[in-house]
Amino acid sequence: MEIQTAKGLRGEIQIPGDKSISHRSVMFGALAKGTTEITHFLQGADCLSTIGCFREMGIEIENTNKKIIVHGKGLHGLSAPSKILDVGNSGTTTRLISGILSGQPFASTLSGDASLNSRPMNRIMEPLQMMGADIQSKFINGCAPLLINANLPVGKKPTLTGIHYHSKVASAQVKSALLLAGLYAEGVTTVTEPNLSRNHTELMLNEFGAQVTTKMNPDGSAVISISPCEELYGHAIVVPGDISSAAYFIAAGLLVPNSELLIQNVGINPTRAGILKVCEAMGANITYLNQRTGNGEPTADLLVKTSSLHGTTIEGALISTLIDEIPMIAVMAAFAEGTTIIKDAAELKVKETDRIWTTTEGLKSLGVDVTPTEDGMIIYGGKPVHGGVINSYLDHRIAMAFAIAGLAAEGTTTILDSQCVDVSYPDFFQTLEKIQG
Ligand code: S3P
Repeated sequence: MEIQTAKGLRGEIQIPGDKSISHRSVMFGALAKGTTEITHFLQGADCLSTIGCFREMGIEIENTNKKIIVHGKGLHGLSAPSKILDVGNSGTTTRLISGILSGQPFASTLSGDASLNSRPMNRIMEPLQMMGADIQSKFINGCAPLLINANLPVGKKPTLTGIHYHSKVASAQVKSALLLAGLYAEGVTTVTEPNLSRNHTELMLNEFGAQVTTKMNPDGSAVISISPCEELYGHAIVVPGDISSAAYFIAAGLLVPNSELLIQNVGINPTRAGILKVCEAMGANITYLNQRTGNGEPTADLLVKTSSLHGTTIEGALISTLIDEIPMIAVMAAFAEGTTIIKDAAELKVKETDRIWTTTEGLKSLGVDVTPTEDGMIIYGGKPVHGGVINSYLDHRIAMAFAIAGLAAEGTTTILDSQCVDVSYPDFFQTLEKIQG
């Protein structure tokens, strides 16, 4: 895909549904009694992987493109898959489903693409094993394929016991895997995380009738507990627009001269909205309109106008609230006056690609002065940025962040393997074209 310098962006944008919330709505709907009707579901490849896995386990899921209807069979209604569950590129599918599958009375195998099968799974395998789960890495390398309940005698239920797990990383995928296994465990399952990671699992499980509590400690750590429950019950879910997808158009509106974009229906859950804090710290002109809440998730329309940005420091508890937006923030920093320091973000190394490497390599191809560090990067912004060739390494967020860079850079920018945006934002390039008039 070739991107040219843009003169000004205008228009209203409907952001596709939130990826994290879309995954969860299908998973919890499948485990609930009755139907779950999902509006504004993200029809991206990752969420379609989740649908595929539950269909393979006997759940009827209608996909009319406008709505998803999940015909749940209750907490104990899944049936044994007849083949390997294909999780594609999706870490969320893999890690959350692992918690569910650990509690099922059948064996299953999870496997995905080359990127997924090289991502760390010990972070969920170890605590699940502490609960008594039978989950192993097929090639004993800490990665998928994962074998779950391979040693379980036919017809026997696994025995899981609630634990109190102190997670070193604030990871919603780790937390969610344990809470979902906790639905099938004896006693209470508790996760303490260094700060509250995205809390969509907690909010939605409670809507479906589970008992999940959250306590914030004075040091900022969060303690989340779940008690086993008899059943979950189907629920109507309206998925808000994904702030991680909105991030590209927020940045585009700020960076391209003479721009004004109205980005509608963006989820602004505080555990996700770190990018808005960073934008404010960098001097961005963003107005929040029409703030409202649905299914416990706050949303707003965002009016974004061209702004002159300046550098900032991004660190500590803020990181987990913007972890997926860092490639885009790094690009914004390249166009901002002064230095931006990103630290405490070593988790970037274990995303779809090592995003410290792929982001800094991409920035260097555009002539940006950037230094990768062990846990982030330092960007010396405000110098001329020129077009170049960007290898996305099939990472959707790298492809989109650098497409936006291309709008504000001098000359042509080419994004290699740009179709990988399908993972989270299939219409990304069409929307980009539309706002250029
Ligand atoms: C997600 C959690 C985050 C995020 C990922 C989606 C989720 O991962 O990066 O894109 O839906 O729970 P971690 O839990 O590894 O931080």
